[in-house]
Amino acid sequence: RTIRMEVARYRPGEDDEPVFQGYDVPLMPDWAVLDGLNHIKDQLDGSLSYRWSCRMGVCGSCGMTVNGEPRLTCGTFLTEYGEGPIRIEPLKGFPVIRDLVVDIDGFLAKLSSTRPWLVREGEELPLTTEYAQTPEQLDAYKQYSMCINCLLCYSACPVYVLDPDFLGPAAIALAQRYNLDSRDMGDRFDVLNQEDAVWGCTFVGECTRVCPKHVDPAEAIQRYKLTAALRSVLPWSRR
Ligand code: FES
Repeated sequence: RTIRMEVARYRPGEDDEPVFQGYDVPLMPDWAVLDGLNHIKDQLDGSLSYRWSCRMGVCGSCGMTVNGEPRLTCGTFLTEYGEGPIRIEPLKGFPVIRDLVVDIDGFLAKLSSTRPWLVREGEELPLTTEYAQTPEQLDAYKQYSMCINCLLCYSACPVYVLDPDFLGPAAIALAQRYNLDSRDMGDRFDVLNQEDAVWGCTFVGECTRVCPKHVDPAEAIQRYKLTAALRSVLPWSRR
């Protein structure tokens, strides 16, 4: 048995628009969509371009739109789609470099803008001190540290798809990962308290629904809205 995969092919600058190219791949019970793409690449058409690395839901590089939904292709089985066809497109909301490969430079710049590291004001580098945490202090931010930057949340976010300047779910969740860390002394208020940051979120919640690591960016954003609102009346409050 085989299943039909319809794969978006596009070379900006050479093609007028994306077209779908059909391939029949073996419908193996243990094959993920990524295995189907690898079969196409290895056996049928070596010109197909897409990203992947770990094949185990860790690296976050294999996100694509599968039958309209943003999914990790290494964690999505062919058998989920019955008799097919399975339509594979690049993640929505990102410029396409080639076929299924999208440009993530804008996303990386957003991540950097939140200072996603432990900020220790007034300390000289290198830091040699150990800062012990209790299990409760770890629990305060652990959920947000599970993000693998797969971009599914951006692709599912109706605000980001309409406004590419929106700071977006993963970057805000990552900022909260550090805001809520007892070792951090950073202040990310100026980045987060913006129309294009937490105040741009309309709380649709698609980001949380599609996250393969069960991070809850929607909660992170609403939580920081409260922080920012409190700060307008209590200017010294930081978290
Ligand atoms: Fe790494 Fe899918 S290949 S998450």
